[in-house]
Parts: sequence; structure tokens; C-alpha cells
Amino acid sequence: MKKADMLTIEEKAALLEGYETWRTNPIPRLDIRSLFLTDGPHGLRRVRETGSGFAVSNNEHSTSFPTAVAVASSWNTGNAYDIGKAIAEECIEAGVDVLLAPGVNIKRNPLCGRNFEYFSEDPFVSGVFGESFVKGVQSLGVGCSVKHFAANSNENYRFIGNSIVDERALMEIYLRAFERIIKKAKPFTVMCSYNRLNGVFASQNKKLLTDILRGMWGFDGLVMTDWGATCDRLKGIKAGSDLDMPGNVWHNRKSIINAVRNGELSEEDIDTAIDRVLTLVNNSSEEKKDARYSETKHVELACDIAKDSAVLLKNDGILPLKGNERILIVGEMFEKLRYQGAGSSLINPPSVVSAKAAFDKRSIEYTYEKGYRAFYQKDNPSLIKNALRAAEEADIVLFFGGLTDFEESEGFDRQHMRIDKRQRSLLKSLTDMGRKVVFVLHAGAPVEIPCYMNLSAVLNMHLPGMHGGEATAALLYGERVPSGKLAESWTNCTEDTSCFADYNRSATSKYYESIYVGYRFYDKAKTNLQFPFGYGLSYTSFEYGNISVVENKDEINITADITNSGDYDGAEVVQLYVRNNKSDVFKAEKELRAFSKVFIKKGETEEAKLAFNKRDLAYWNIQRHEWVLENGLYEICLAASSADVRLCAPLRISDGEEVVSPYSKKVTADYLIPPRDIPGSFTELTGYTEEEKYQNELTLESSLLDFKKTFIGRIFYLSVMAVVKKQYRKTKRMKDSLERDALLKNSYFVVRMMPGNSLRAMCMSSGGKFSYNTAMGMLEIANGHFVKGMKYIFKKERVLPLPVNKQGDRI
Ligand code: BGC
Repeated sequence: MKKADMLTIEEKAALLEGYETWRTNPIPRLDIRSLFLTDGPHGLRRVRETGSGFAVSNNEHSTSFPTAVAVASSWNTGNAYDIGKAIAEECIEAGVDVLLAPGVNIKRNPLCGRNFEYFSEDPFVSGVFGESFVKGVQSLGVGCSVKHFAANSNENYRFIGNSIVDERALMEIYLRAFERIIKKAKPFTVMCSYNRLNGVFASQNKKLLTDILRGMWGFDGLVMTDWGATCDRLKGIKAGSDLDMPGNVWHNRKSIINAVRNGELSEEDIDTAIDRVLTLVNNSSEEKKDARYSETKHVELACDIAKDSAVLLKNDGILPLKGNERILIVGEMFEKLRYQGAGSSLINPPSVVSAKAAFDKRSIEYTYEKGYRAFYQKDNPSLIKNALRAAEEADIVLFFGGLTDFEESEGFDRQHMRIDKRQRSLLKSLTDMGRKVVFVLHAGAPVEIPCYMNLSAVLNMHLPGMHGGEATAALLYGERVPSGKLAESWTNCTEDTSCFADYNRSATSKYYESIYVGYRFYDKAKTNLQFPFGYGLSYTSFEYGNISVVENKDEINITADITNSGDYDGAEVVQLYVRNNKSDVFKAEKELRAFSKVFIKKGETEEAKLAFNKRDLAYWNIQRHEWVLENGLYEICLAASSADVRLCAPLRISDGEEVVSPYSKKVTADYLIPPRDIPGSFTELTGYTEEEKYQNELTLESSLLDFKKTFIGRIFYLSVMAVVKKQYRKTKRMKDSLERDALLKNSYFVVRMMPGNSLRAMCMSSGGKFSYNTAMGMLEIANGHFVKGMKYIFKKERVLPLPVNKQGDRI
């Protein structure tokens, strides 16, 4: 008899949810073991035994690798593979079965607080990096959970948001990276996102979780919810959401058991989900491949990738430094490296090498003035005065700055692209003094670079992982030549971004720009950018020549000669865009189809080899619900960035189709060029007609902030906020230390995230601590139904015993 057939209903219900935040339930009598699932994606985040729940800042030591934004800027997918494999080695040692990574959401807007965890605005880049990462992790038998599925592009309304996306933008942009990863890397699991997609929560969205993921792409793994993303558990199971995490919500378990008993949930629905859980348990064998690893090697890998990822944004020739300059260093990030972001990806590395440590190791002489404090928000005039006074004596000022964790984090979005005003005014004063200023930037997303015209150089280190300071020193002094390029466009300001008209205006996000995301928008709208997609300088220069295109059935192979014409050995990222055919169907001007990073010694020439499949040029036809490759004249462009095309060759497609455009005249007219505002035809384009209803009464989905509108609700809101703010204030009073930094950024993340939380999400993510009845009771009371509310609160929940106790024994 199959194990699944021997399970009782109670055991099945238990198997479909997690316990103790990071585990799945075991069934010892049938030798079904508990799996350990944990974050990802920039290292292994394993909460200490002493930490309870999410415990975002109480983690075991592990290697902190460069964040996804950095890794993608290396344009070297081997880096993602190597990081994945290294994290898997750490997972094996820590007994982790599934890593909650990678994050492959598309960067729709630079303000998204979580962009540092994602690869790119381009689905091809996100897809290939995600694919390599998953292959690296899974090569050692550890599973991945690719997240967050799908259309999750903002943090402000993350628990209650509704992303309205047209079918074509969904298939071509927001789902395409997932599609590639599912088909090519076969991840063990996928994690659905918190938000709704076209009105339906991702955790119960059948179209997403079953029709597309399994039906179209053939995914045969398990779908788990993001932590607390469950809304209606029964609908979730029917839609294809197998495992509810972190679970332990009695209400959900009870509803499953009752629904199976009364026939509301078929045995088939529940057994399908059970099969997937059991398959995951089987595939996650306890006997993983031997993965003894060297901590030193992992750290070296992290450092090497940080060097490979940095992007030189400007250089008037001042870099690399010669070593004999009188240097003043300004900015606390010199000694306090901003190497990672805040939230669930927070790693606790055993050591951090700041730029200061790396400079000192090299015995570089410098004067250092803090100028500002990154973890203290108050102005400090004496720090500024000291920095400016010291600048009078210096030839060159190295300014270390960028975004702080108060501006950029999981859980909330930025409101603009500017950096902190203290840093801006310092930079202004320094450049006004006529000093040569090199800006070493740490940020997980695009920022407006202050005084750009007057800066001598800008080196973007992103959030480079635990040895980022060592990488910075190596790059500044020319021990390594910068070779990264931006994997996202940098607009001059937020008003210029492709979805400015409807980003974070309310919980409903209208993705009105459709397929025009990132460079697809800016190219065609002819936006004047700070830096285009794919841009990055080097200490050397490259010339392109001799393009050749060979068609081999559907595969198009392109080669070109790339010459290193400068004075340093270096690497060039050659990008292949295909300019679209003239069509009645609106399209981006050109789209990235391949890239290759080629290392070339100075004075030498190497052949760059690139390839893509012709079928990738198809667009998603919304009438036929399938990919359609149009006949016509396309153009292959080899480029140094999306705005710097070097070589072109025509490509005629004649074995495609001649199809009438599926769009009405109105849609075609509105989308001929990228819309600047929500066009009149947006409803027609999406087919989504539901308007946001004004809710008089609070619901489980109302944000905590909404609770302020009733008297009791306000008390509730203020009490919750008082608790989280108290923790934040307590952390602020701690002595300066790495621990303070970690606790501070995460308590701030909770303070900022909380107002957008809902009672439902709080209950679903509480691991049973905040029961459904208590949530309902509070809701009723906040709505003025005191008696009804109290009845809920005091209602004895008929708590079903867990089939197992903590030790895994049956009770
Ligand atoms: C995040 C996920 C993460 C999970 C567990 C959620 O809040 O969105 O990315 O994996 O927490 O920490």
C-alpha cells in the first residue's frame, strides 16, 4: 500500500502545512520525515535554535554573498551557479533541505524596496541567472523554491496588493523568467507571492498555479505559499497550492478536515497535494552528496564575484588610483560596509571586510572623516565640518555613500530615488571646493547621483557581500579591472520611470505600461536616462568588428571579433538585442536575446560567440493564447549597452506566420508608443473590470493602517505599533556593533512593514500564535460589534492534536 493511502485525514491536513516556522510536519509512524526549509537567496539564513519564529536577525553564521542585483551586474551566469552550489554546501551541513531562493521578480520600478534581491528588469537576464542559481543549488540535492510567483513588484502593499496585468505582459515579462527556470532547471518547489493577481490571491490563483505553471510549463514539483500568504486554504488547495507556510493555523487545518469529510474538498484534490509533499520528502534525501566545504573558499568566491559585479559608471581617468595621491576618505560606509539588505535575506557572516580594513591591509595612507553616520539619522554638524576642513589638504576625495537601510529594505518601498540629504550636501560642498571626488556607491537599486557632472568617477559596488570592501580596494587600485554592467535602466528621477503614473498609488497596481518595462519603455519613449540598461565602463576599451550570422534551423549563431584596444586586460559584456519587425502588433523597439562576457588581454582580439532560438522572437498572442512568430525583417544588434549598438545584421523570418493583430484600433493607438499614463483602453487590454470598492466596514484584508478609521481599530493599531516601535527604540539605544546594525535594520523593517499588514496575513504567518478566532474577534470589535467579537475571542477552538509532538513522536 502507498504511504499516501495509509495516512489519516488528520495526518494529511498536517502534512499540507508547516510547523515551527521552517519545517514541514513529519509522520513518524510512516517514516515521513520533517523537511527543513529556509532563506535564501544571498546565503543560508538559518535561524538559531534560540531564536523563535521569523527571528530575522538571530541567525547562525554563514557566508554572505553579493546580492542578486550585484550578481546580475556581473553578466556572468557562472557566478550564480557557483553561489548556488556554495550555499547548497552550507545547507547540507546545516541540515537544510530546501532553500527559499532565488527571487526572480521583474524590477518594474526602481523604488521597490526588495529590488536588491532580484536580478533585473529584463526577463531573459532574470531567467538565465535564476536558472544557473537553481542548477547550482540542486546539483547537490538541495531543493530550491523559486519566488515570488508572481507579479510582485512592490512592498508597500505586499500583503493586500492587487496587480492588474494584461495577459501578454504577464507571459512576456512577469512570468517568463519563471517559465525558463521551470523548464530548464526543474526546481523542486515554487513559492507563490503575497499579492493578488487580477483580483485573485496568488496563493489561490488556479490560472497561475495550475493552468500556467503545471499545464503549460509542465511543472511537477510542489507549490508552497510565501510565509503567511494563505487566504482561503480550501481555495488554495483546489488552485494548486500544496504547502501552507509557516502553517500551524488551526483554522486552516480544521477547514481541510471538515471539507474532506463533507465532500467540499475531493479526496483527489487533497491527494494530489499530498503526493507532491511526499515526492518532495523523497527527493530531499537525507543522504546528500558529500559537500564538505572550506569557509575560506566561500569567502573568496563571494569576494571574487563582488569584483566581477561592480559597475564603473563614470571615470574621467582618475581611476585606477596610482597609490601616491593624498587621499581623504569621507563617509561612514568606508568603515561600515553596507554589504546586504534587510529582511528575510539577512545573513549573519562571521566577519565583514570593510573598505577600511582592505585599505589598511594594503598600508594605504589616507585621512578619514566620517562626514555622516549611516545608522544614526540625526545631523552631526561637527562631522561635516571636520570632513570639509580635511578636504582642504587632499588631492582626491573618496566619498563612500549610498542608500542606508532606513531607505531601502524588504517590507517597504522608497518614495524617490535620492540619497540621504546629509550625503547630498556633503558631496555638493566637496565638489564646490573643486576637489576631485570619486563616489563609491552602495545601493541595491538605482539612485539619483548628486553632483554627477562634477564628480571625477563613480564606482557602483551595489550590496557586495561580506568581503565587499576588499573588492572595492582591488578595483580602485586597478588590481582588478571593472567589468560589470547594469542589469536595469537608471532614469534621472522617479518621475521618468516607466510606471510612474501608477506605482504605489493604492493597493491596486495597474501595470498600465504593459510590455514596456525598463529599456523596452525608455528606448521607444526616447527617455533621457542617467544610465541605460547594460551600461558599464572599464579601465580599458573594446572595439567590435566582423559580425557573422549563421542560421541552423531555429538556432541563430552569431560571432564577432572583440578587440581590447586599451591598456589593461579586461572583460567585455557583449549584448545581443534583436530589433523587432515592423508590425501592427505593438512591440518594444529591441529586446535582449543573448549576451556573453569575454575576457580579453590588452591588445588582443577574441571571438564572441552568441546564440538564440528564433522562436524566442515570438510575441504572446492574446486571442490565440499562444506564442506567435511573425514573418518579417528583424535586425540583430551587437551592443555594449542598450544605447550603444556597435554592429548590426539583418535577419529575415519567413517560416513564421502572417497573423492579423489581435488588438483593437484603440489599444493599438494607445500602445503605439509607451503610455505615460493609464490609457483609456487599459480595461479592454486586461479584461479586468472590477473597480476597487470602498469598504465601509473593516475586513480581514484591511491594512492595519485602515484600522485607524474606527475608535477601537485605532487603539488596536496604536498598540501593535507601540510594541514594534518599542523594540526599534530599544535597539537604537544599543552600543555600536554589528549586532546593533542587524537588529536595527530589521526592527525598522518591521516598523515600516506593519502598517501595511492585514489581520489575515498576521494570523497566517504567526505559526498559530495569533489565532483565526482572535483575528476575527478583533475585527468584529474594531467594527463596533463588541459582543460578537468577544464571542469569537472566547470561543473554545476545538484544537485538533498535532499528529506528532516536537520530537516527531506520535502523541
Ligand atoms: C518573504 C520570503 C521569505 C519568507 C521566509 C517572507 O516574508 O517574502 O521571501 O522566504 O518570508 O522568511
